[in-house]
Amino acid sequence: MMMTTRASAPPARGIRATTTKRSATVKTATMAPRGAGATARARGALARVDAANGEAKDPILLRAARGEDVERPPVWLMRQAGRYMAEFRAYSTKYGFRYRSETPEIAIELSMQPWRAFKPDGVIMFSDILTPLPALGIEFDVVKGKGPVVEPVRTMADVNAMKQLDDPDSQLPFVRETLSTLRKEIDGQSTMLGFVGSPWTLAAYAMEGSSDRHLMTTKQIMTQDPETLHAFLSKLADALGVYVCHQIDSGAQVVQIFDSWAHHLSPQQFLEFSHPYNERIIAYVKERHPETPLIFHANGGVGKLHELKKSTADVIGLDWNTSMSEARAILGPDRVLQGNMDPMYLFASPDRIREEVAKNVKDAGNGKHILNVGHGVAQGTPEENVGHFCDAARASLYAEVGAPAR
Ligand code: CP3
Repeated sequence: MMMTTRASAPPARGIRATTTKRSATVKTATMAPRGAGATARARGALARVDAANGEAKDPILLRAARGEDVERPPVWLMRQAGRYMAEFRAYSTKYGFRYRSETPEIAIELSMQPWRAFKPDGVIMFSDILTPLPALGIEFDVVKGKGPVVEPVRTMADVNAMKQLDDPDSQLPFVRETLSTLRKEIDGQSTMLGFVGSPWTLAAYAMEGSSDRHLMTTKQIMTQDPETLHAFLSKLADALGVYVCHQIDSGAQVVQIFDSWAHHLSPQQFLEFSHPYNERIIAYVKERHPETPLIFHANGGVGKLHELKKSTADVIGLDWNTSMSEARAILGPDRVLQGNMDPMYLFASPDRIREEVAKNVKDAGNGKHILNVGHGVAQGTPEENVGHFCDAARASLYAEVGAPAR
C-alpha cells in the first residue's frame, strides 16, 4: 500500500522533536491528577459504599448502561476533552494529535481535565476512532486546519494488504497503560469509557482519505464495487472486535461504537453496510465480556429508528436531529437511550441549558437514559457551561420530576 500521508507525518517527527521536552511534560501531566487522585480516592471509597446496606455500588453510568433503574440520568459529553478547554489548548498548541493521544501520560492528563473540572459520570479515554488504523497498516494524521488525513484504501489489493490486529499490546502499546491508569485514578467514582469507530465510518474515512463531506469516493465504490467495500468492512469488524476486548481487558467498563458517518446511508444501505458489521463486533465482544455494556451511537439515526431497533447494543446514542420521544416510542420502554441535546445550547445561559436538559430528560421518558450532547462539544463553548450541563443532570432526580413517562 502506498503511504501518501507519511511524507508530512508530524506524529513521528513530533515524537522525536519533543523527546527532550517529554520528561517535563510527563511531570506536569501526572502530578496534577495524582494530587487530585489522593483525595478523590478517599471520597471514592466512601461513595462506593451504599450507606444502607454497606454493599459496594458500581458507578451510576455503568448501572444505567446495564439497564438498571437509577435515581437520575448519568451524564457525560462526546468530545468532553477538547479545544474548548484552556487547559487542553496548553497541550494541543504544543504537541501534534498523535503524540498527545499515543503518549499515555498526556492522554491520561487530557482525559482527566474535564473530569477534574466538571465531574461527569463518564471519563472517556483521549484517543481517536482512527487510532487503531496504523496497526492495520493504514497510516493517518490529524492536520491542523484540515482535520484527519488517512492513507487511502480503495481497491481489493489495498484491503488484502491490511495487517491483522493480533497483538494489540505490541501494536497499540499506549492503550493498556492509558486505560488502566485512568481506571485507577477515577477509582470507581466515574465510569471508564472506551470507544471505537464503526467499520462503516472507518471505511469511509480510509476510502476518502480525508473528511470529505459528500463521500463521493466511498459511495462510488459502494455502488460499483460493493465486494471491495464488504471485504474492507469485514476486516475492520474483525480487528475492532479484538480492539474492543483489549480496551475492556485494559480497564474500559463501557465501550461506545461511533457510527459518525451513518447519516450518509439510506436505511437500506445502513442494513447492508453498517448494521451487520456492528453486530459482528457486538457478538464477538458479548461472547467474551457479556457483562460489559456497549453503546451504539448512530449519527443520522433519524429516519433509521426501525433499523436501529435491530441493534443488540445495550444503549443507543442519538444525534440532536433525532426526536428523543419518537426514538423512545419506536425503540420501546426498556432500551437505554443516550443523548441528545444540541451542543449549541452550551453557548446559551445556564437557565436555558437547564430548560433543555429538563426537556431532554422528559422526552427520553424520565428513565433508561444517559444524558449527553447530540454531537461533540463545539470549539468556543464557554467552559463553565459544560459544568452547568453536568449539574443539571445531577439535579434531575427522577423522584422529583415524576414517574417514568414511558
Ligand atoms: O473527549 C472525547 O470525546 C475523547 C476523545 C475523542 C477524540 N475524537 C479526540 C479528538 C473522541 C471520542 C473522538 C472520536 C472521533 N474522531 C469521531 C467520532 C465522534 C464524532 O465527532 O462523530 C470522529 C468522526 C473522529 C475523527 C476526527 N478526529 C475528527 C473529525 C477530528 C477533528 C478534526 C479537527 O481538526 O477539528 C479529529 C481529531 C481530534 N480527535 C480532535 C480531538 C479533540 C481535535 C484535534 C486536536 O485535538 O488536535
